[in-house]
Amino acid sequence: MKGVITAGGLGVRLFPLTFATNKHLLPVYDKPMIFYPIETLVKAGIKEILIITGGPHAGHFIRTLKNGKELGVKHLEYVYQENEGGLSDAVRLAEDFADGGPITVILGDNTTDADITSSVKRFKKGAVMFLKKVPDPQRYGVPVFDPNNPKKIIGIEEKPKAPKSSYASTGLYIFDNKCFDYIRTLKPSKRGELEITDLQNKYIKAGTMKWEILKGFWTDAGKSETLFQASLYWAKKAGVKI
Ligand code: DAU
Repeated sequence: MKGVITAGGLGVRLFPLTFATNKHLLPVYDKPMIFYPIETLVKAGIKEILIITGGPHAGHFIRTLKNGKELGVKHLEYVYQENEGGLSDAVRLAEDFADGGPITVILGDNTTDADITSSVKRFKKGAVMFLKKVPDPQRYGVPVFDPNNPKKIIGIEEKPKAPKSSYASTGLYIFDNKCFDYIRTLKPSKRGELEITDLQNKYIKAGTMKWEILKGFWTDAGKSETLFQASLYWAKKAGVKI
């Protein structure tokens, strides 16, 4: 299994913090944000990692991560996404790196202390999505459950105004190599992006999507409030009295 981290974009939601560097290099407590998804992958035994980045500060990643050895990464690759074409557009750039195999994808602004080792080890084919109950599902991809079978997901909606469940699809995914064929069939959404939820919907339609509840703390630190909450969580976990 190889790992892919999406760390492109302009970080507009965090202006002016992101005028000087890429969002994923901002501090979450005492480490750059990108260290957290890298550590999640390495903890799960995934040590070949591709970072998909973009925007004006892409060079800062090499300065910060170098070849990744200090974080336990055996092989670190970088790819540059030309425009913010959406998360599926970013994942598309991992096709050569995946080399016919499956990938675990983590969005670069997601931090979690969940251990996904067993999900990665069990994975054979199809896809896996990790869910978390949240108070504000309208901010995320939201799964729709079958009214006749509460364990069955029949679709996923991106940031719906009226969410059909109280779960968020977290930014952790496992995809088999079919994801690249599916991405080739996707059309841009109304906001002009190739959505990750549309890729998830392809697997759901094919009946090959599995889901699990993500155990532990999880946050998408891509907004000023959640960036702050993430820092607070990791500082408290490290024993800082606040
Ligand atoms: O955090 C979980 C949510 O992440 C999911 O529930 C949603 O279904 C999913 O679409 C995503 O929503 P966001 O609006 O939070 O995604 P965002 O645009 O912030 O992108 C997530 C990370 O991926 C971010 O750190 C930047 C990077 N990215 C994003 C885009 C759109 C790229 O590398 N390339 C891109 O084209």
